[in-house]
Amino acid sequence: MSVVVVNEIIALRKIIKEYKMQGKTVALVPTMGCLHDGHKSLMQKAHSIADITVASVFVNPIQFCPGEDYDKYPRTLEADKIVAESAGVDIIFAPSVNEMYPGLEKFSDLTMVAPPYELTDIMCGKSRVGHFDGVETVVTKLFNIVQPDFACFGMKDIQQLFLIKKMVKDLNIPVEIVPCPLVRESGGLALSSRNKYLTDEQRKIALSLSKALFAIRDLCNAGVRETKKLFDTGLTNLDKNVELEYLEFVNYDTFKPVDTVEQPTICALAARVGGVRLIDNVVLEV
Ligand code: PAF
Repeated sequence: MSVVVVNEIIALRKIIKEYKMQGKTVALVPTMGCLHDGHKSLMQKAHSIADITVASVFVNPIQFCPGEDYDKYPRTLEADKIVAESAGVDIIFAPSVNEMYPGLEKFSDLTMVAPPYELTDIMCGKSRVGHFDGVETVVTKLFNIVQPDFACFGMKDIQQLFLIKKMVKDLNIPVEIVPCPLVRESGGLALSSRNKYLTDEQRKIALSLSKALFAIRDLCNAGVRETKKLFDTGLTNLDKNVELEYLEFVNYDTFKPVDTVEQPTICALAARVGGVRLIDNVVLEV
């Protein structure tokens, strides 16, 4: 079956209602497009667990902070259709901004879904103030529009995944969140739509992000558990041209910062390479 592109909420709801009446299950993969193999793996997972796979392609303005790359974020719907179809997606939902936020003049007029402050005053939430309010709001809207049985999210955006799992639990949203592994290029760079911005030289520098995380993981596996020492090893492995935003250690289940790795721990970083903001993480097991 070839992928169908739907731009309107009413039309999408009608199609999904018909599938649901036939007893079919639906999996959603929310994306902002510019699809790469990481997205493809989410779509393949969705296709393997549900009868119908919907991928949303929507560059969500309310999750970009002032001065971020909303205007230049790559919009590549034609290419995205090919990736989605090859991964077994049945429907691409590609609404306009007006379809998602009709008549909205300023985003402060919108009813928002906001995660707890203490879970956003760390890592990406600390520098991207309001970002996760925008993410949770659009994901809630997508859940209400599509009413999926499953929704697949990648572990690269590990804070996003944690907050969405919590949101679904806290708000009793009837969807199963399916976490999917982070996908890397052969050199180790985590796949991201923003990798498109990197020059060849910057791409080489960016490889030191995963190198630093792998060095931390190796040291932890060798028995070093103090995050201060692990942090220093990370710094040593970063290229001097990397502008580090954060390198943090948080408990896998609670997202609370840890000084010692005693339970499964996420080691996550965000950094700029030539102005391009990249994120990556590894899970430290004990
Ligand atoms: O991870 C993303 O691409 C976005 O944050 C999401 C979940 C599609 C919401 O816009």
